[in-house]
Amino acid sequence: MRRGGSLAASLLIDYEDDGPVSEKAPLDIVLISGSLRARSVNGAVVAAAAQLAPFNVHAVVYRRLGELPHFNPDHDRDPLPETAAELRALLEGADAALFSTPEYAGSLPGSFKNLLDWTVGGASLYRLPVAWINPSAHGGARDAHAALRIVLDRAGADVIEAACMDIPVARDAVDDDGVIADDAIRSAIAGAMRELAEAALRRRGGER
Ligand SMILES: Cc1cc2nc3c(=O)[nH]c(=O)nc-3n(C[C@H](O)[C@H](O)[C@H](O)COP(=O)(O)O)c2cc1C
Repeated sequence: MRRGGSLAASLLIDYEDDGPVSEKAPLDIVLISGSLRARSVNGAVVAAAAQLAPFNVHAVVYRRLGELPHFNPDHDRDPLPETAAELRALLEGADAALFSTPEYAGSLPGSFKNLLDWTVGGASLYRLPVAWINPSAHGGARDAHAALRIVLDRAGADVIEAACMDIPVARDAVDDDGVIADDAIRSAIAGAMRELAEAALRRRGGER
């Protein structure tokens, strides 16, 4: 399997006298919130990450977490449930993925773990550069992120440590439209996206 899918084939490289200076095809980065809540802090983080993506990134916010069926190995075969097939195709065509998840009862939310389980059979995360933002205030959600690290490790994902960040976001920092206005928070989220994009660009074109 090849990272970057058809994008790699259309890669354009600018040359100056001293060699290639930029790769112009956009990087596809998939952004996934682990929360289904309407005014979710994690949802606001991925929305901000999409807004603040570097110029060479095409950010896609995944919105069908709540539509995925319960993972059942008996259904993990052709034809896959439509939502699961779409999720796998999205990740397999991506250059990177960023997660932002809450912790429920000391672990990952069931719906988010369900999404991750659907990715395993398709090896959709295998060698994919991935990172997470933990927006929980007061040092929360440590166990969820320890669990996330185990799942990503088993799935063979390429965790980009420099892009994994604790960026505390208080609930009242999210306005009625689900937007985070705070400049310091936005700047930190932009930094995580930049680190992930840089890692994805370095890995682009490699074999998965
Ligand atoms: C059922 C439930 C269990 C929770 N358990 C934990 C927990 O174990 N650790 C933690 O840090 N926060 C826990 N929380 C707090 C949530 O992680 C926190 O409210 C988070 O901001 C929710 O994310 P969201 O705003 O994106 O929905 C829990 C919340 C709920 C509703």
